[in-house]
Amino acid sequence: MPNLQLLVLFGSQTGTAQDVAERLGREARRRRVRCRVQELDSYPVANLIREPLVIFVCATTGQGDAPDNMKNFWRFIFRKNLPATSLCQLDFAVLGLGDSSYAKFNFVAKKLHRRLLQLGGSALLPACLGDDQHELGPDAAIDPWLGALWEKVLRLYPVPRDLTRIPPGVPLPSTFALQLFQEIPSEVPPEPFAPSVDPHQPPSESQPFLAPMVTNQRVTGPSHFQDVRLIEFDITGSGISFIAGDVVLIQPSNSAAHVQQFCQVLGLDPNQWFTLHPREPGVSCPPGLPQPCSVGRLVTRYLDIASVPRRSFFELLASLSPHELEREKLLELSLATGQEALCEYCSRPRRTILEVLCDFPHSSGAIPPDYLLDLIPRIRPRAFSIASSLLAHPDRLQILVAVVQYQTRLKEPRRGLCSSWLASLDPGQGPIRVPLWVRPGSLAFPESPDTPVVMVGPGTGVAPFRAAVQERVAQGQTGNVLFFGCRWRDQDFYWEAEWRELEKRGYLTLVTAFSREQEQKVYVQHRLRELGPLLWELLECRGAYFYLAGNAKHMPADVMEALTCIFQEHGGLSSSDATTYLASLQRVLRFQMETWA
Ligand code: 2AM
Repeated sequence: MPNLQLLVLFGSQTGTAQDVAERLGREARRRRVRCRVQELDSYPVANLIREPLVIFVCATTGQGDAPDNMKNFWRFIFRKNLPATSLCQLDFAVLGLGDSSYAKFNFVAKKLHRRLLQLGGSALLPACLGDDQHELGPDAAIDPWLGALWEKVLRLYPVPRDLTRIPPGVPLPSTFALQLFQEIPSEVPPEPFAPSVDPHQPPSESQPFLAPMVTNQRVTGPSHFQDVRLIEFDITGSGISFIAGDVVLIQPSNSAAHVQQFCQVLGLDPNQWFTLHPREPGVSCPPGLPQPCSVGRLVTRYLDIASVPRRSFFELLASLSPHELEREKLLELSLATGQEALCEYCSRPRRTILEVLCDFPHSSGAIPPDYLLDLIPRIRPRAFSIASSLLAHPDRLQILVAVVQYQTRLKEPRRGLCSSWLASLDPGQGPIRVPLWVRPGSLAFPESPDTPVVMVGPGTGVAPFRAAVQERVAQGQTGNVLFFGCRWRDQDFYWEAEWRELEKRGYLTLVTAFSREQEQKVYVQHRLRELGPLLWELLECRGAYFYLAGNAKHMPADVMEALTCIFQEHGGLSSSDATTYLASLQRVLRFQMETWA
């Protein structure tokens, strides 16, 4: 089957599924298998009926949702009228990426696998259930599955004898060629880019709006363990519009200190200019990357040097390394047998790509610039719930950002790239512009003015509800019930004065849970239970909508448990009827949630 074309389709929210899909593409090239790697929603799905072999790489997000870039495919594939033999020519395999600390672990991959079978496809293997929580790191479940996959694929579709496999250890050609300029080119793209002004083309990943930051204010008390910022952008003239429930995507940058350190260890000149050329057709340059571009800009804005490297990073770095000792060590870490060592060195302490590169200076110093984009994943945009309404703050967009910082066994604290970068920007020191665009989130609020809403948002989970309350108040809608939880009334009670004012004006019922102001922890779900009769009344008799937002760890499950208890205690339902009742609210969108890790 010399003409075998393997197709890898991915649905990725944070970029991990895309990285894995691209790795599959590289492995195919190593085996001389022709391969296309494509985002699910950019693939004309009706063509699936002609594909012989497709590998689907799909993440599961939030509470069992499909990533945004496969939403159209997801709707199409579950159409009721698709014949059961639609895909009888298709050999497929599904690689799922999930997190077993969430209730609906790898829900999308499992459901897709079942559906493809239903439509007549033949599964090469059971679905792979990749797990971020795996004790040996996120590649632990994926590596053996990929090994088995290649065995199957090459047995079914042997590669012609004259095409020998590129042996492991020999680097594949890079995806891009960097053509270096001898001098600074006469015409260089401006820094920052001019904002897009076409109102018919709202800003997007490939053309973000460079929004002036107008406020960056710490809103937690001085003794609070966490630095939380209220950040405001001016979006005048951007063409951006949003409603309560929408999210903003922010494209962060690396810190100047990290960029400098990276260039130093790789022996790169940040002022060197280049143009980027894909070596194969069908490969596109990173969205928004200007041509020509300087090395400094590439590293600052596109290379995720602060992320924890995956196994394939070590594989490629080893193959590029001229230094015997370092190469051996890198190889050891890149083999399936080195999983425990890799986990100990990287995943557990959250060691970053930059730190690893500093640990292997002879290898880092010899990396050909052509390979930078193969070696280092792109910086992904981060999503934040929008915390303001255009009806209350015209031309403004506000978010609430918890600055992520924690300690592992490494001396340097670990820092979240986007939140630390945002926190470091000071609009008082001159103009600051942040690349952003918006998209719908998973919360939608009822249009009918008489429908009450119950919102549960502990911590920064309150952000989307501030937008909703502002929007509803501006439209004269009462019947807003907000459950807010934080540690201390005087440290992390966001927007207290605003809520109090709205209470006074009769727009809001606020219920608070201060977890650490008494011996026993008090959480929002305890308050829900206390107000069980009211909640049952609102949901059963007044058609209320119920919303939940915040940290995904335990809170969503705990709140849902509290609700089912309320349905039993105050609605007289049996335990299984209470679960069904909650599921039916969810089905008609009267129970919605937006959670984040
Ligand atoms: P804690 O940090 O004192 O445990 C915002 O983070 C608030 O949510 C804090 O008061 C925090 O309490 C609380 N919280 C932590 N875990 C929770 C859970 N499982 N359910 C509800 N609230 C929780």
